[in-house]
Amino acid sequence: MPLIYQHNINDTTKAGIWHIEEPAEYFLSKVPIKRDVSHPHKRLQHLAGRCLLPSLFADFPLEEILIADTRKPFLENEKYHFSISHCGDYAAAIASSTNRVGVDIELITSKIERVKHKFLSAGELSFVLHHKPISEMFTMLTIMWGMKEAIFKWYGDGEIDFIQHMQIQPFTFNTRGGTADVYFLKNDSKLLQLHYRHFDAIVLSWVVS
Ligand SMILES: CC(C)(COP(=O)(O)OP(=O)(O)OC[C@H]1O[C@@H](n2cnc3c(N)ncnc32)[C@H](O)[C@@H]1OP(=O)(O)O)[C@@H](O)C(=O)NCCC(=O)NCCS
Repeated sequence: MPLIYQHNINDTTKAGIWHIEEPAEYFLSKVPIKRDVSHPHKRLQHLAGRCLLPSLFADFPLEEILIADTRKPFLENEKYHFSISHCGDYAAAIASSTNRVGVDIELITSKIERVKHKFLSAGELSFVLHHKPISEMFTMLTIMWGMKEAIFKWYGDGEIDFIQHMQIQPFTFNTRGGTADVYFLKNDSKLLQLHYRHFDAIVLSWVVS
């Protein structure tokens, strides 16, 4: 059962996670490949991410996907807005016929602790470091990284400063999932609601706006 999670967010927007167990040949029979990825596992992740889209919406036109200079994949006619992410043996995707979307999936590891100052402001760091119990810190840091990656993809035009342009407001951490308000300050100010789900070793974050 490769589709391990599906969330019908609303009438027009769905997200899902695929656990990659299949060989590349399985995906190649379903996915028209536009961008050749030489590393075998990255290729598998890339194909699985594409394969998820018609699992969410059966009429998703995979063959019409284009790739912008920023590397954002898109459909010219915007029949669907969509976003893809992968990590380890997982691929995630979100698609919407009405709203711009961004998604990120991350494995929780202790490595995030060493780079936290590269993507979190002093205020955001203080929020995490004052959270109890401290054993949840790696998960919280991974969620906050995932939220900012999801916004980066939702925006799509690159040139985002993760500290200056995105400010996560203090939120109530729930071990299974929840939401956080995030100010996005590129060009003008916009308040976004970010969502996360926590499953054992992975976290999924997304934005719809
Ligand atoms: C582009 C970026 C978001 C991709 O992340 P990644 O580590 O490869 O991880 P993911 O698997 O989550 O995402 C990859 C997918 O993002 C999508 N993507 C790539 N560039 C994108 C962009 N500019 N906008 C939207 N989506 C994009 C693609 O669908 C890609 O998968 P695919 O090539 O198989 O289709 C990331 O590399 C990046 O540049 N982040 C910003 C880094 C930064 O500024 N950091 C500063 C603070 S440390």
